[in-house]
Amino acid sequence: MTSPRAMVERIKQLQKEKDILILAHNYVRPEIQDIADYVGDSLGLSRQAALSDHPLILFCAVHFMAETAEILTRADQTVLIPDRRAGCSLADMITAPALRDWKAKHPDALVVAYVNTSADVKAESDICCTSANAAQIVSSLPHDREILFLPDMFLGAWVEEVTGRKMEIWPGECHVHATLPPDRIKSLMVEHTKAEFLIHPECGCSTQCLYLDSVGELPSSPIVASTGGMVRHVKESDGTKFIVATETGILHPLKKSAPHKVFIPASEEMVCQFMKMVTLPKVLKVLEAGAPVVSVPEPTRSKARAAIDRMLAVTV
Ligand code: 13P
Ligand code: SF4
Repeated sequence: MTSPRAMVERIKQLQKEKDILILAHNYVRPEIQDIADYVGDSLGLSRQAALSDHPLILFCAVHFMAETAEILTRADQTVLIPDRRAGCSLADMITAPALRDWKAKHPDALVVAYVNTSADVKAESDICCTSANAAQIVSSLPHDREILFLPDMFLGAWVEEVTGRKMEIWPGECHVHATLPPDRIKSLMVEHTKAEFLIHPECGCSTQCLYLDSVGELPSSPIVASTGGMVRHVKESDGTKFIVATETGILHPLKKSAPHKVFIPASEEMVCQFMKMVTLPKVLKVLEAGAPVVSVPEPTRSKARAAIDRMLAVTV
Protein backbone atom coordinates (compact mmCIF):
# COMPACT_ATOMS: atom_id res chain seq x y z
CA MET A 1 0.00 0.00 0.00
CA THR A 2 1.30 3.46 -0.95
CA SER A 3 1.98 5.77 2.01
CA PRO A 4 0.18 9.17 2.22
CA ARG A 5 3.53 10.92 1.79
CA ALA A 6 4.33 8.96 -1.40
CA MET A 7 0.84 9.72 -2.74
CA VAL A 8 1.31 13.43 -2.09
CA GLU A 9 4.69 13.36 -3.87
CA ARG A 10 3.18 11.64 -6.91
CA ILE A 11 0.19 14.04 -6.92
CA LYS A 12 2.56 17.03 -6.91
CA GLN A 13 4.60 15.51 -9.75
CA LEU A 14 1.49 14.88 -11.89
CA GLN A 15 0.13 18.33 -11.06
CA LYS A 16 3.32 19.93 -12.41
CA GLU A 17 3.60 17.69 -15.48
CA LYS A 18 -0.02 18.22 -16.52
CA ASP A 19 -0.32 21.86 -15.36
CA ILE A 20 -3.32 21.16 -13.10
CA LEU A 21 -4.98 23.71 -10.82
CA ILE A 22 -6.22 22.06 -7.61
CA LEU A 23 -9.19 23.75 -5.92
CA ALA A 24 -10.57 22.53 -2.58
CA HIS A 25 -13.52 23.48 -0.38
CA ASN A 26 -13.05 24.41 3.29
CA TYR A 27 -14.87 21.20 4.36
CA VAL A 28 -12.69 18.57 2.65
CA ARG A 29 -10.19 16.48 4.61
CA PRO A 30 -7.10 18.39 5.88
CA GLU A 31 -4.67 16.39 3.71
CA ILE A 32 -6.65 17.37 0.61
CA GLN A 33 -6.76 21.05 1.59
CA ASP A 34 -2.98 20.90 2.09
CA ILE A 35 -2.29 19.87 -1.53
CA ALA A 36 -4.63 22.48 -3.04
CA ASP A 37 -3.56 25.69 -4.81
CA TYR A 38 -6.62 27.43 -3.41
CA VAL A 39 -8.96 26.55 -0.52
CA GLY A 40 -12.16 28.51 -0.06
CA ASP A 41 -15.94 28.85 -0.04
CA SER A 42 -18.33 28.37 -2.96
CA LEU A 43 -18.00 31.95 -4.16
CA GLY A 44 -14.20 31.99 -3.94
CA LEU A 45 -13.95 28.65 -5.73
CA SER A 46 -16.26 29.82 -8.54
CA ARG A 47 -14.15 32.95 -8.99
CA GLN A 48 -10.91 30.94 -9.10
CA ALA A 49 -12.37 28.62 -11.74
CA ALA A 50 -13.57 31.56 -13.84
CA LEU A 51 -10.13 33.25 -13.66
CA SER A 52 -8.11 30.11 -14.33
CA ASP A 53 -6.02 29.57 -17.48
CA HIS A 54 -5.03 26.00 -16.60
CA PRO A 55 -6.01 23.31 -19.12
CA LEU A 56 -7.06 21.03 -16.23
CA ILE A 57 -8.79 21.84 -12.95
CA LEU A 58 -9.13 19.24 -10.23
CA PHE A 59 -12.13 20.20 -8.11
CA CYS A 60 -11.92 18.67 -4.63
CA ALA A 61 -15.45 19.11 -3.26
CA VAL A 62 -19.01 17.98 -3.98
CA HIS A 63 -20.52 17.59 -7.44
CA PHE A 64 -22.59 20.80 -7.73
CA MET A 65 -19.48 22.88 -6.98
CA ALA A 66 -17.46 21.12 -9.69
CA GLU A 67 -20.39 21.57 -12.07
CA THR A 68 -20.42 25.32 -11.34
CA ALA A 69 -16.68 25.46 -12.09
CA GLU A 70 -17.20 23.57 -15.35
CA ILE A 71 -19.90 26.03 -16.42
CA LEU A 72 -17.51 28.93 -15.76
CA THR A 73 -14.51 27.53 -17.62
CA ARG A 74 -13.69 27.71 -21.36
CA ALA A 75 -14.35 24.88 -23.83
CA ASP A 76 -10.61 24.06 -23.97
CA GLN A 77 -10.44 23.52 -20.19
CA THR A 78 -11.40 20.30 -18.38
CA VAL A 79 -12.75 19.94 -14.85
CA LEU A 80 -12.01 16.71 -13.01
CA ILE A 81 -13.69 15.45 -9.83
CA PRO A 82 -12.25 12.73 -7.53
CA ASP A 83 -15.65 11.11 -6.89
CA ARG A 84 -18.72 12.04 -8.94
CA ARG A 85 -20.98 10.40 -6.31
CA ALA A 86 -20.08 13.17 -3.83
CA GLY A 87 -23.49 14.83 -3.77
CA CYS A 88 -25.27 17.30 -1.48
CA SER A 89 -28.45 16.65 0.51
CA LEU A 90 -29.47 20.29 0.07
CA ALA A 91 -28.98 20.33 -3.71
CA ASP A 92 -31.14 17.18 -3.87
CA MET A 93 -34.08 19.01 -2.25
CA ILE A 94 -35.31 20.49 -5.54
CA THR A 95 -35.42 19.27 -9.14
CA ALA A 96 -35.89 21.25 -12.36
CA PRO A 97 -39.47 19.88 -12.95
CA ALA A 98 -40.45 20.82 -9.36
CA LEU A 99 -39.04 24.32 -9.90
CA ARG A 100 -40.96 24.67 -13.18
CA ASP A 101 -44.20 23.78 -11.32
CA TRP A 102 -43.39 26.35 -8.61
CA LYS A 103 -42.64 29.03 -11.22
CA ALA A 104 -45.94 28.28 -12.99
CA LYS A 105 -47.76 29.26 -9.77
CA HIS A 106 -45.75 32.54 -9.56
CA PRO A 107 -45.35 33.60 -13.21
CA ASP A 108 -44.01 37.10 -12.44
CA ALA A 109 -41.52 36.09 -9.75
CA LEU A 110 -37.73 36.21 -9.96
CA VAL A 111 -35.97 32.98 -8.98
CA VAL A 112 -32.90 33.15 -6.72
CA ALA A 113 -31.06 29.81 -6.60
CA TYR A 114 -28.49 29.11 -3.92
CA VAL A 115 -25.39 27.72 -5.59
CA ASN A 116 -26.07 24.39 -3.80
CA THR A 117 -28.30 23.25 -6.70
CA SER A 118 -27.85 21.15 -9.83
CA ALA A 119 -27.05 22.81 -13.18
CA ASP A 120 -30.60 21.90 -14.31
CA VAL A 121 -32.08 23.95 -11.46
CA LYS A 122 -29.68 26.87 -12.05
CA ALA A 123 -30.76 26.83 -15.70
CA GLU A 124 -34.36 27.47 -14.58
CA SER A 125 -33.30 30.35 -12.29
CA ASP A 126 -32.76 34.08 -12.84
CA ILE A 127 -29.78 34.56 -10.55
CA CYS A 128 -27.60 32.47 -8.22
CA CYS A 129 -26.26 33.34 -4.80
CA THR A 130 -23.90 31.80 -2.26
CA SER A 131 -23.82 32.08 1.52
CA ALA A 132 -21.27 34.90 1.06
CA ASN A 133 -23.52 37.14 -1.03
CA ALA A 134 -27.16 35.96 -0.59
CA ALA A 135 -28.33 39.13 1.19
CA GLN A 136 -26.53 41.36 -1.33
CA ILE A 137 -28.07 39.49 -4.29
CA VAL A 138 -31.61 39.65 -2.88
CA SER A 139 -31.20 43.37 -2.04
CA SER A 140 -30.12 44.03 -5.65
CA LEU A 141 -33.45 42.79 -7.07
CA PRO A 142 -36.27 45.21 -8.05
CA HIS A 143 -38.52 45.88 -5.06
CA ASP A 144 -41.74 45.40 -7.00
CA ARG A 145 -40.91 41.78 -7.97
CA GLU A 146 -41.91 38.70 -6.03
CA ILE A 147 -38.92 36.44 -5.19
CA LEU A 148 -38.78 32.65 -5.14
CA PHE A 149 -35.77 31.64 -3.02
CA LEU A 150 -34.45 28.07 -3.09
CA PRO A 151 -33.62 25.50 -1.80
CA ASP A 152 -32.50 26.35 1.78
CA MET A 153 -35.23 27.56 4.13
CA PHE A 154 -32.81 28.58 6.87
CA LEU A 155 -30.62 30.66 4.56
CA GLY A 156 -33.85 32.12 3.12
CA ALA A 157 -35.18 33.04 6.58
CA TRP A 158 -31.87 34.67 7.48
CA VAL A 159 -31.85 36.66 4.22
CA GLU A 160 -35.41 37.86 4.94
CA GLU A 161 -34.31 38.91 8.42
CA VAL A 162 -31.29 40.95 7.32
CA THR A 163 -32.73 42.45 4.11
CA GLY A 164 -36.34 42.98 5.24
CA ARG A 165 -37.51 41.47 1.90
CA LYS A 166 -40.35 38.98 2.08
CA MET A 167 -39.84 35.95 -0.17
CA GLU A 168 -41.44 32.64 -1.09
CA ILE A 169 -38.96 30.09 0.31
CA TRP A 170 -38.53 26.47 -0.74
CA PRO A 171 -38.69 24.14 2.32
CA GLY A 172 -35.25 22.53 1.87
CA GLU A 173 -32.41 22.02 4.33
CA CYS A 174 -28.90 20.60 4.65
CA HIS A 175 -28.85 17.56 6.92
CA VAL A 176 -25.56 18.70 8.48
CA HIS A 177 -26.65 22.24 9.37
CA ALA A 178 -30.38 21.83 10.02
CA THR A 179 -30.27 20.08 13.35
CA LEU A 180 -28.16 22.36 15.53
CA PRO A 181 -30.55 23.60 18.25
CA PRO A 182 -30.42 27.27 19.38
CA ASP A 183 -30.34 26.06 23.02
CA ARG A 184 -26.98 24.41 22.35
CA ILE A 185 -25.62 27.73 21.04
CA LYS A 186 -26.96 29.61 24.03
CA SER A 187 -25.42 27.17 26.51
CA LEU A 188 -22.03 27.25 24.70
CA MET A 189 -22.06 31.04 24.71
CA VAL A 190 -22.89 31.14 28.41
CA GLU A 191 -20.11 28.59 29.11
CA HIS A 192 -17.51 30.46 27.00
CA THR A 193 -18.44 34.08 27.67
CA LYS A 194 -15.29 35.52 26.06
CA ALA A 195 -15.68 33.52 22.83
CA GLU A 196 -17.00 34.95 19.55
CA PHE A 197 -19.68 32.89 17.86
CA LEU A 198 -19.39 32.09 14.14
CA ILE A 199 -22.47 30.62 12.50
CA HIS A 200 -23.15 29.50 8.91
CA PRO A 201 -26.50 30.79 7.60
CA GLU A 202 -27.50 27.24 6.58
CA CYS A 203 -27.76 26.44 10.32
CA GLY A 204 -31.32 25.95 11.53
CA CYS A 205 -30.59 28.19 14.48
CA SER A 206 -29.12 31.19 12.62
CA THR A 207 -32.37 33.21 12.52
CA GLN A 208 -33.35 32.27 16.09
CA CYS A 209 -29.89 33.42 17.22
CA LEU A 210 -30.45 36.80 15.55
CA TYR A 211 -33.75 37.02 17.42
CA LEU A 212 -32.19 35.98 20.77
CA ASP A 213 -29.48 38.59 20.19
CA SER A 214 -32.02 41.32 19.39
CA VAL A 215 -33.82 40.70 22.72
CA GLY A 216 -30.54 40.69 24.67
CA GLU A 217 -30.55 36.94 25.44
CA LEU A 218 -27.01 36.28 24.15
CA PRO A 219 -23.76 37.45 25.78
CA SER A 220 -22.48 38.76 22.39
CA SER A 221 -23.77 39.14 18.81
CA PRO A 222 -23.13 36.08 16.62
CA ILE A 223 -21.27 36.54 13.32
CA VAL A 224 -23.25 34.90 10.50
CA ALA A 225 -20.84 34.17 7.65
CA SER A 226 -19.90 31.87 4.78
CA THR A 227 -17.00 29.51 5.43
CA GLY A 228 -14.66 31.94 3.65
CA GLY A 229 -16.10 34.81 5.70
CA MET A 230 -15.30 32.87 8.89
CA VAL A 231 -11.66 32.44 7.86
CA ARG A 232 -11.35 36.15 7.05
CA HIS A 233 -13.03 37.11 10.33
CA VAL A 234 -10.72 35.11 12.61
CA LYS A 235 -7.65 36.60 10.89
CA GLU A 236 -8.89 40.16 11.41
CA SER A 237 -10.54 39.81 14.84
CA ASP A 238 -8.80 40.65 18.13
CA GLY A 239 -10.72 37.72 19.64
CA THR A 240 -8.79 34.61 20.66
CA LYS A 241 -11.59 32.05 21.17
CA PHE A 242 -14.34 31.14 18.69
CA ILE A 243 -17.33 28.78 18.79
CA VAL A 244 -17.85 27.50 15.26
CA ALA A 245 -21.25 26.36 13.99
CA THR A 246 -20.71 24.68 10.65
CA GLU A 247 -19.23 21.49 9.18
CA THR A 248 -16.13 20.56 11.21
CA GLY A 249 -13.78 20.53 8.17
CA ILE A 250 -13.64 24.34 8.57
CA LEU A 251 -11.54 23.88 11.73
CA HIS A 252 -8.48 23.07 9.58
CA PRO A 253 -8.35 26.35 7.58
CA LEU A 254 -9.33 28.31 10.70
CA LYS A 255 -6.44 26.82 12.70
CA LYS A 256 -4.06 27.35 9.78
CA SER A 257 -4.97 30.99 9.40
CA ALA A 258 -4.83 31.77 13.15
CA PRO A 259 -2.65 29.07 14.79
CA HIS A 260 -2.62 30.67 18.25
CA LYS A 261 -6.40 31.05 18.54
CA VAL A 262 -8.83 28.50 20.02
CA PHE A 263 -11.73 27.03 18.01
CA ILE A 264 -14.59 25.10 19.61
CA PRO A 265 -16.93 23.19 17.28
CA ALA A 266 -20.61 23.82 18.14
CA SER A 267 -21.11 20.11 17.46
CA GLU A 268 -18.55 17.39 16.62
CA GLU A 269 -21.36 15.65 14.74
CA MET A 270 -21.55 18.27 12.00
CA VAL A 271 -19.73 16.18 9.39
CA CYS A 272 -20.63 16.17 5.67
CA GLN A 273 -19.99 12.64 4.46
CA PHE A 274 -20.10 13.86 0.86
CA MET A 275 -17.15 16.24 1.32
CA LYS A 276 -15.23 13.46 3.10
CA MET A 277 -15.56 11.23 0.01
CA VAL A 278 -12.61 13.12 -1.47
CA THR A 279 -9.52 11.14 -0.41
CA LEU A 280 -5.83 11.08 -1.41
CA PRO A 281 -6.09 7.71 -3.25
CA LYS A 282 -9.03 9.07 -5.31
CA VAL A 283 -7.15 12.29 -6.08
CA LEU A 284 -4.15 10.30 -7.28
CA LYS A 285 -6.34 8.02 -9.38
CA VAL A 286 -8.19 10.87 -11.11
CA LEU A 287 -4.93 12.67 -11.90
CA GLU A 288 -3.44 9.51 -13.41
CA ALA A 289 -6.54 8.62 -15.41
CA GLY A 290 -7.70 12.13 -16.39
CA ALA A 291 -11.22 11.04 -15.42
CA PRO A 292 -13.97 11.36 -14.20
CA VAL A 293 -14.59 14.56 -16.14
CA VAL A 294 -17.43 16.92 -15.20
CA SER A 295 -19.53 17.98 -18.15
CA VAL A 296 -22.77 19.96 -18.41
CA PRO A 297 -24.62 19.64 -21.72
CA GLU A 298 -26.07 22.54 -23.72
CA PRO A 299 -28.49 24.31 -23.49
CA THR A 300 -28.42 23.75 -19.70
CA ARG A 301 -24.83 25.02 -19.53
CA SER A 302 -25.52 28.41 -21.16
CA LYS A 303 -28.74 28.98 -19.21
CA ALA A 304 -27.07 28.08 -15.88
CA ARG A 305 -24.09 30.26 -16.80
CA ALA A 306 -26.38 33.28 -17.28
CA ALA A 307 -27.70 32.87 -13.70
CA ILE A 308 -24.15 32.49 -12.29
CA ASP A 309 -22.81 35.44 -14.34
CA ARG A 310 -25.62 37.67 -13.05
CA MET A 311 -24.52 36.80 -9.51
CA LEU A 312 -20.85 37.48 -10.25
CA ALA A 313 -21.76 40.83 -11.85
CA VAL A 314 -23.50 41.94 -8.63
CA THR A 315 -20.60 40.86 -6.39
CA VAL A 316 -17.49 41.95 -8.32
P1 13P B 1 -19.83 28.07 1.73
O1 13P B 1 -20.06 28.67 0.38
O2 13P B 1 -20.06 29.03 2.86
O3 13P B 1 -18.47 27.45 1.81
O4 13P B 1 -20.91 26.93 1.98
C1 13P B 1 -21.04 25.83 1.15
C2 13P B 1 -21.77 24.73 1.78
O5 13P B 1 -22.01 23.72 1.18
C3 13P B 1 -22.22 24.89 3.14
O6 13P B 1 -22.78 23.70 3.58
FE1 SF4 C 1 -24.38 20.04 0.96
FE2 SF4 C 1 -24.73 20.25 3.58
FE3 SF4 C 1 -22.59 18.98 2.63
FE4 SF4 C 1 -22.80 21.68 2.41
S1 SF4 C 1 -22.61 20.47 4.31
S2 SF4 C 1 -22.15 20.22 0.80
S3 SF4 C 1 -25.01 21.88 2.07
S4 SF4 C 1 -24.73 18.33 2.39
